Amino acid sequence: MTEQRFVHAQWSSRLAFILAASGSAIGLGNIWKFPYLAGDNGGGAFVLVYLLSVVAIGIPIMIAETLLGRRGRQSPINTMRTLAEEAKASSFWSYVGWLGVIAGFMILSYYSVIAGWAMAYFFKINSALFEHIDAAGSTKLFEAFKSSPEFLGIWHTLFLSLTMFVVRKGVSGGLERLTRLMMPALLVMLVMLDFYAMGSGGFSQGMAFLFSPDFSKLTGEGVLVALGQAFFSLGLGMGSIMVYGSYLPSDVSIAKSSLFVIAADTLVALLAGIAIFPLVFANGLSPSMGPGLIFETLPIAFGQMQGGWFIGMLFFALIFFAAITSAVALIEPAVAFLSENKGMDREKACLVSGAGCWLLGLGTVFSFNIWADLKWMDKTIYEWVDTLTAEIMLPVGGVLIAIFAGWVMSKADSEAELKLQDPRHYQWWLILVRYVAPICVLLVFLDALGVI
Ligand code: PHE
Repeated sequence: MTEQRFVHAQWSSRLAFILAASGSAIGLGNIWKFPYLAGDNGGGAFVLVYLLSVVAIGIPIMIAETLLGRRGRQSPINTMRTLAEEAKASSFWSYVGWLGVIAGFMILSYYSVIAGWAMAYFFKINSALFEHIDAAGSTKLFEAFKSSPEFLGIWHTLFLSLTMFVVRKGVSGGLERLTRLMMPALLVMLVMLDFYAMGSGGFSQGMAFLFSPDFSKLTGEGVLVALGQAFFSLGLGMGSIMVYGSYLPSDVSIAKSSLFVIAADTLVALLAGIAIFPLVFANGLSPSMGPGLIFETLPIAFGQMQGGWFIGMLFFALIFFAAITSAVALIEPAVAFLSENKGMDREKACLVSGAGCWLLGLGTVFSFNIWADLKWMDKTIYEWVDTLTAEIMLPVGGVLIAIFAGWVMSKADSEAELKLQDPRHYQWWLILVRYVAPICVLLVFLDALGVI
C-alpha cells in the first residue's frame, strides 16, 4: 500500500514537471513567432540553423538549467548564489538570475500584446466578415485591427490581468491540468490544419520553402535570430526552467524529461510552419509578412472551411491557453524575486511586476500604429525589446548557465545529479555543455557582428 502510494507520487511529479516545462516551452514562440521568423529569414536555411541550435545547444542547456534548479532548490537568483558558494566561486553568478528576471519581464511586455491579438481573433473569427475571405480582405482586416491603439491596448490589458491573476492566486496547478488537455488538442488541431494545407494547392511550394535550405538567403543576423529563437521557444536562459527543476524529485531522469519537452516543442513549431506556408503560397501572399503572418493567413483557411468559424475559435482558444502557460513562466522569476528578496507579499509583487509589464507593453502596442515610425537604428520599440531579449539576454544567460554547470560545478556533483545510466552519455553532455554550446554561441555572435 505504502509502496504503491510512493510510486504514484513519483510518477505524478515527473509528469507535473513535463507538463509545466512544456507549458512554458510551447506557446506563441512555436505558433506565431517561428513561422514569421522563418518567413522573414528566407525559410529552409533558417529552419536548419534553428534545428541545429535546438540539438547542439538547446538540449545540453535545458539539461544544465534543470540540473542547477534541482540542486539549488530555490528561486534562480538564490539558487545561483547558493550553488556558487558551494563551488567556492564568485557571487557574481547570482547575476545570471538577475538577467533572467529582467529578460522574462521584458518578454512578457510584448508577449501579452500578441496573446491579446489571439484573444481578439477568438471573438472576431466567427463574424461574417471572415466568410470566404481572400488574402486581400484578410490583410485589410488585420491592418485595421492593428492600427487601433485602443483595441490592442484593451486586449493587452486583459491578457496581462488574467496572467497576473493566475500568478497571484498560485492556481498554476489548475493550469497544469489544463495543459494536459490543451497540448494534445493543439497537436490534433495543427495536424488537421496540416492536412488542410496539403489540399490548398501551395503544399509543395510551402514545403520547399521550409525544408530546402538556400544559404544565400540567410544573413549573419538571420543565424543569430535562429539561435535566439531556439532559446526563446524552449524557454531557456532566463531561469524559468530552473524554477521548475527545483520541484523535480531527485530520482527523476533530467535528461529524459528534457528530451521529451524539446521534442514536443520542436514538433509543434514544425507542424505550425507546415500549416502556414502552403496557405501563404496558395493565396499569393509573401512569406515575409512579419508578426502578422498567422493572423493574416489562417483566417483565410478558416473562412473557406466548412464550419471554419468554429475551428477558428477553437484554434485561437488553444493559442490563448498555450500563451498563458508560457506567460506565467515568464513572470514567475520576477514575482519570486520581489517577494523573496524585496520583502513584498505575493499580491504586491504581482501588482508591481504586472503594472511595470503593462507600461512597457504600451511601447509594443504603439509600435504597430502611432509609433510605427519611431525607430532607432531601423527598429521599433517592439523590435528592440524582442531583439535585446531573444538575441542577447537569453543566449548570454544560457551560455552562463552552461559554463556554470560544465566548468564551475564539480563533475562529481553534476554526474551525481544527472544519474545517467550510461557513462558515455554523461561525457557527451559534458562536451556539449563545456565546449559546443559556448563556442557555437560565441561564433554566432561574432558572425552577426560581422567580425567573422
Ligand atoms: N517558450 C515560450 C514560447 O515559445 C516563451 C518563453 C520564453 C517562455 C522564455 C518562458 C521563458 O512561447
